[in-house]
Amino acid sequence: MKGIILAGGLGTRLFPLTKITNKHLLPIYDKPMIYYPLMTLVNAGIKDIMIVTGGNNAGDFLRLLGNGREFGLQDIAYTYQEGEGGIADALRLTEHFAGKDKIVVILGDNVFEDSIGDAVFEFEKNINEGAMIFLKEVDDPGRFGVPEIKGNNILKIIEKPKAPPSGFAVTGVYMYDSRVYDIIKTLKPSGRGELEITDVNNKYIEWGQLYYRVLKGWWTDAGTFESLYKANTLIKEARTGDDIKRVVSRKS
Ligand code: DAU
Repeated sequence: MKGIILAGGLGTRLFPLTKITNKHLLPIYDKPMIYYPLMTLVNAGIKDIMIVTGGNNAGDFLRLLGNGREFGLQDIAYTYQEGEGGIADALRLTEHFAGKDKIVVILGDNVFEDSIGDAVFEFEKNINEGAMIFLKEVDDPGRFGVPEIKGNNILKIIEKPKAPPSGFAVTGVYMYDSRVYDIIKTLKPSGRGELEITDVNNKYIEWGQLYYRVLKGWWTDAGTFESLYKANTLIKEARTGDDIKRVVSRKS
């Protein structure tokens, strides 16, 4: 199973923070944003990772992450997205890297408390064909891809709906078989001019092959001022919690 981090786009919602750097290099508490999705993949046992980036600061990823040895990797592969054609457009660029392998894709501005290791293992071993997504209940579903759910089934996913059909967001980690690249080739740009990952996921729903899990721990993106602030707070609280646990275990 190969891992892909999507860190392209222009980060316009965070302007002027993103005027002279890439969104994914901004800090979340004590680490650059890109560290978090990278660690989520590494902690799930993924060793082959490609980062898709773009814009004027793409070279800074190499300066920051190098060959990934600091994260226990042998190497990191990089590729470059021209413009801001959407998440599925960025994913399209990784076809040669993935080959016929299954992939786990994570958005560079998503921060997860949960480990996805079990789900990656299950997808790799038990799901021959299909895709898997992760849902999380949120207060503001209209900002995200939102699933319409009946019983245990997702009927469809709607991108940034005005009237959300459920209180769940589709979070930014996705697992796919290699047919994902054929699906992307059939996509048309959405109203916002992007190739949408939601259209990819809806295709797997049509095939009856979209599996999902609901996250237990917290999750946030960090692509708006509010959510970036929230991500900082969550990570700070998690670090403080770890410090307290360490002190308690030293005392007991
Ligand atoms: O955070 C989860 C949400 O991410 C999902 O619920 C939505 O279904 C999905 O469309 C996406 O929504 P956003 O509108 O928040 O995505 P955004 O444009 O902020 O892009 C998220 C990441 O994807 C970004 O940090 C880098 C990568 N990306 C994005 C674009 C548009 C690229 O690599 N290239 C791109 O062209």
